[in-house]
Amino acid sequence: TPGVKPLIAGNWKMHGTLAEAAALAGAVRDGAGGLPADLLVCPTFLHVAQVAATLAGSAVAVGGQDCHPAAKGAHTGDVAAPMLKDAGAGFVILGHSERRTDHAETDAAVRAKAEAAAAAGLVPIVCVGETEAERLAGRAEAVVERQLAESLPDGFAGIIAYEPVWAIGTGRTPTEADIAAIHGTIRARLAARFGAAGQGMRILYGGSMKPGNAKAILALPNVDGGLVGGASLVAEDFLAIARAA
Ligand code: G3P
Repeated sequence: TPGVKPLIAGNWKMHGTLAEAAALAGAVRDGAGGLPADLLVCPTFLHVAQVAATLAGSAVAVGGQDCHPAAKGAHTGDVAAPMLKDAGAGFVILGHSERRTDHAETDAAVRAKAEAAAAAGLVPIVCVGETEAERLAGRAEAVVERQLAESLPDGFAGIIAYEPVWAIGTGRTPTEADIAAIHGTIRARLAARFGAAGQGMRILYGGSMKPGNAKAILALPNVDGGLVGGASLVAEDFLAIARAA
């Protein structure tokens, strides 16, 4: 998208020890100079503060993988957006399909989390994407449009990640034409609802993005970066994807 710097974000999911997370962050930091993209890494909650300390003063940002809709309170096992902010995060991934599936997160829940994130000064990255059954039924665009309509709060000023569920961790990706089509639909919905802000909002692609396919995907219209899972756990692969932006 013209005037929009790409963002390459790593979703580290539930991987690694504290020492491994710090080492990976250090390797990303050391390779982050002169890239055509902004970089973000999202470790598990337990590693956010350590990774933020490792990346302090660097150009690499840190994010969480979820937050609770409340700013504080009696919610055993949950993490509030202000806590993430306090630990050094600037971003938070919300509504990832693994959370929608594993924790029954609804669009309404994601929307409430996005509001909490923004209130805490975090940039929300809201994930949308269809299952394989939905795509085969010809419903991919309708599903994504519903998720956008219901997961994004009014005044949303964050990032969208389009992640087809069937492409996550499978080595399969949609065709370039299919990615361009659905990113175009997402852009149209964002522009219709948020005006100029929607025109400039980053739309990331996620799902089996690797060094070998990143250049072609990142060159597509309305693809403003990537949300990378598996390949983000290897610093050289993650940096190679960023170089392809
Ligand atoms: O959030 C990123 C993720 O779901 C994609 O995972 O392993 O297919 O790159 P992966």
